[in-house]
Amino acid sequence: MGYTYDELVSLAISQLYKGGAFLMAGKQEKNPMTIGWCQFGRLWNEPICAVFVRHSRYSHALIERDGVFTVNFPMDGSWQKALGFCGTKSGRDVNKLEALGLHTVPNAAGGVDSIGGNIIRFECKITGKAEFQAGLTYLRQDIRERFYNPEKEAGSDGDLHTVYYAENLHAEWRKE
Ligand SMILES: Cc1cc2nc3c(=O)[nH]c(=O)nc-3n(C[C@H](O)[C@H](O)[C@H](O)COP(=O)(O)O)c2cc1C
Repeated sequence: MGYTYDELVSLAISQLYKGGAFLMAGKQEKNPMTIGWCQFGRLWNEPICAVFVRHSRYSHALIERDGVFTVNFPMDGSWQKALGFCGTKSGRDVNKLEALGLHTVPNAAGGVDSIGGNIIRFECKITGKAEFQAGLTYLRQDIRERFYNPEKEAGSDGDLHTVYYAENLHAEWRKE
């Protein structure tokens, strides 16, 4: 059965807060990283997907280099181990796809390949980016301390996020 883009977004978001999604970056490396935050909406009158990636992540370097990524939303409960692994191991140290025995689905529009299996996948191309401002002036103090504490996170700035805004190249839910 075919789904519209809006239906896929709504189904994907309903799964996101159950354990996260995989952001896959690196056209060659295919490095999946667990993400907890992903926003869909409209910007410049177009549908966009926004992801938030800290400077220290290997994924950050891959995204900066290639300008494309996929967001992969697991659609059943069998992905908890993989989400845990990809949220704690860095692709600098381990090939996460190989370690987990995951296969990939080839990209459909020149972007990054996605993860195979019961996954809603969005192939994305970056159209804009924004850096969280040093000092985080507007952010509530308790959130600043929780998420950007220099003693817990890499770097003296607390390892700020880059926001990547991306247009959708292709979206599908193939359950194989
Ligand atoms: C549930 C969960 C959600 C996460 N969400 C994000 C996120 O939105 N952005 C981010 O930069 N890191 C996030 N992380 C941390 C990265 O997944 C983790 O640091 C990962 O090892 C980085 O992999 P990489 O170095 O291969 O890019 C999350 C981790 C978990 C467990």
